Amino acid sequence: MIFINTIVSYFNYTCFMNKAHKTVLVTGSSSGMGRAAVLALAKEGFIVYAASRTPERLFDIQTEFIRPIPLDITNIESIEESISHVGQIDVLVNNAGYGLVSTVEDVTEEEMFNQFNINVFGLLRVCKTVIPKMREQKSGVIINISSFLGKIGLPLFTFYNASKYAVEGITDSLRYELKDFHIRVHSIMPGFFDTNFARDNLVTNAKTFEEDSPYAGLVSTLAPTIVGQINEGNSTEEVSAMILEIIENESFPARKTAGDKAKKFIPMKKELSDEDFERRVRAYYDL
Ligand SMILES: NC(=O)c1ccc[n+]([C@@H]2O[C@H](COP(=O)([O-])OP(=O)(O)OC[C@H]3O[C@@H](n4cnc5c(N)ncnc54)[C@H](OP(=O)(O)O)[C@@H]3O)[C@@H](O)[C@H]2O)c1
Repeated sequence: MIFINTIVSYFNYTCFMNKAHKTVLVTGSSSGMGRAAVLALAKEGFIVYAASRTPERLFDIQTEFIRPIPLDITNIESIEESISHVGQIDVLVNNAGYGLVSTVEDVTEEEMFNQFNINVFGLLRVCKTVIPKMREQKSGVIINISSFLGKIGLPLFTFYNASKYAVEGITDSLRYELKDFHIRVHSIMPGFFDTNFARDNLVTNAKTFEEDSPYAGLVSTLAPTIVGQINEGNSTEEVSAMILEIIENESFPARKTAGDKAKKFIPMKKELSDEDFERRVRAYYDL
């Protein structure tokens, strides 16, 4: 019995030691899934660089394991400067993102560019800066927080959809590109989760939301439904647990869904024809 306990203790010790040496960078970590992931990873013994535009919002949870750093993912110099102060990076969690709610005919150049500048180019800029470190280490894990809307379209969310479809494409391409360097790339496709996303990070186009917009009917039914589904969505713990599982399990699939809505719609999308799937979504959202 003593022998078994000693082996178990040694196993726990070596696992802890492995984690204790591992460093994770999480973007957009001041709230929601990012903040939850930072806390969960630190609890497991990882050293977490909690990157944010406003790192002071993480000072309340700062410890030896949680190290807030400034990061503006729209600016390559800012990323290089921040990451130059971080040594090894074993895991990158690309989490920062927001949603634009606009029709295609109303969108401004600036809104359209910003959506991609954060959700797509920002993610790529961070990858571009971190990959050389991982390549030299000959190991690494990149986890992209995508969305189930990276596989499913919705009206008014065209730009968000397109950005998350792009994240799915980036995940697929990078898996090939980085395989020889033992860098794993995965995406998590959350359904709706109760974070600050609907409260702070849904940006609306003014024209689309005017009372006399030709899309007023669609806006008045769909927008509150989606906001309600986000605010009453799943708890972020499920995503944090999946991040931990991806890090630990080298055979984790390329992508996985999290949360009720993603688990409902993604398998349906795989099983049905495009037309049948569209009928189901139209019926569900009254479109
Ligand atoms: N909540 C959902 O239902 C849901 C569903 C599917 C996918 N997602 C995805 O999950 C990720 C995390 O979102 P969340 O739900 O946790 O929302 P959240 O609580 O609003 O957090 C999003 C984080 O992204 C960063 N961010 C937001 N707008 C930004 C901008 N304009 N420029 C740079 N950074 C920005 C912010 O980080 P800093 O201020 O710290 O820099 C913010 O803390 C996002 O990529 C989102 O698309 C969310």
